[in-house]
Amino acid sequence: MVRHVFIETFGCQMNEVDSGRILALLGDMAYVPVPTRDEADLILLNTCSIREKASHKVYSAIGALRGWKRHSKGRLIAVGGCLAQEAGEEIRRRAPHVDIVFGTHNIASLPEMIRNAEVRRKRTVSVEMTGDTRHWDILPYVPEGAVATMVTIMQGCENFCAYCIVPYVRGPEVSRPAGQIVAEIQGLSERGVHEVLLLGQNVNSYGKKEGEIPFHQLLRRISGIDGIDRIRFITSHPRDLDRPTIELFGELEKLCPHIHLPIQAGSDRILDAMGRGYTRKAYLAKVDALREQRPEIAFSTDFIVGFPGETEDDFRRTIEVMETVRYDYCFSFKYSPRAGTAAALLDGAASMAEADERLQRVLVLQDIHTAQRLEAMIGKTVEVLVEKPSSRDASHLFGRTGCYKAVNFSAKEVGVGAQFRQVLVDKAGAHSLSGKEV
Ligand code: SAH
Ligand code: SF4
Ligand code: F3S
Repeated sequence: MVRHVFIETFGCQMNEVDSGRILALLGDMAYVPVPTRDEADLILLNTCSIREKASHKVYSAIGALRGWKRHSKGRLIAVGGCLAQEAGEEIRRRAPHVDIVFGTHNIASLPEMIRNAEVRRKRTVSVEMTGDTRHWDILPYVPEGAVATMVTIMQGCENFCAYCIVPYVRGPEVSRPAGQIVAEIQGLSERGVHEVLLLGQNVNSYGKKEGEIPFHQLLRRISGIDGIDRIRFITSHPRDLDRPTIELFGELEKLCPHIHLPIQAGSDRILDAMGRGYTRKAYLAKVDALREQRPEIAFSTDFIVGFPGETEDDFRRTIEVMETVRYDYCFSFKYSPRAGTAAALLDGAASMAEADERLQRVLVLQDIHTAQRLEAMIGKTVEVLVEKPSSRDASHLFGRTGCYKAVNFSAKEVGVGAQFRQVLVDKAGAHSLSGKEV
């Protein structure tokens, strides 16, 4: 009997790929994805707990499902991902309508849990950190016609940055075997995928164990795959981004001229308290080295404002770094204490008002820099990988440049599919470019 599943994914790209795996697993059990809750027999929330706000969002989404569950018998609710890992028992207690809570290491056992819930109405909480990597054998669901996809290359994190919950909810760092990654990407290429985004919490520490290959060698192997024209990766840790990887930007054309290099803060004192393992100077030296290899490289970053002990003077250093690097875009967050992390024990977090004000200053400055970076593209011809028809105009297409700029353009021919087009940029908006095919 065919059943229907609605999956809602919170948080980062790791979760998106995991959701793709979950859909593939459920597909084997004859569960078909549907676009709305009302059509579903099973609702699955793949959750995030990176900041308090993210956790709240999940709890309210869980609460909102009470009525849905009551509406007809046999409906099931499963909650997985990072919040499930962190607060499995609490979810069981607070939300009796949830049938299954599964952690980040328990994805492969999901079919069994669902059977138990379907047949025996059994509630399960399964959050053991087993180190299971069987889910890597499950190829994530990739929509028909996708030209750019994400590929997991490692799981977990062992950096224990003072503010961060990820090491606790994702467990120890494990690199996925290179052969398995290459095979997956070859398969994707055969399906028409041209661009891959390699995923890990700290990709620069990939392959550090006996018998593994380091990250730069993995990049070389992937760049040898026919049909794959663009390679990106996230996230780089500024401490671990090494010389051989930096040099690849000057050598491998397939390596896109864009890097996400989260600095978090510009003050050495704060970086030290965060346990990041680099100074502002060391960070900026890597930015320079990357620009030397690839002058057009685009930079993006993450900032945390209001970390415990951050003074106005410390914060000004963050602004200074922004002025120096002139990022293409950034993600900025107010510090949020997470139970169990080292920083949660520290006093002196900035007041809400201060943190709000600092965040605002970052956002305003970044908007200026983003706009300048976009304006600088006007008059240039860029190569765009077409992803889909433009949402604005049926005769236009949407895609991205190698440096990750979104482009809407009028095409000579609108049939989409995996195609690169040359586009003359004639306008810059707040977050995207427009132009026409040449
Ligand atoms: N592994 C990646 C990203 C992890 S989470 C890295 O090392 O950069 C994504 C971003 O969320 C982080 O870069 C950080 O800026 C932010 N973040 C993580 N924990 C946070 C917290 N407790 N409060 C506010 N922001 C946080
Ligand atoms: Fe969190 Fe730091 Fe690991 Fe990134 S590197 S996931 S910020 S602990
Ligand atoms: Fe959130 Fe987990 Fe990603 S906490 S940001 S979904 S690794």
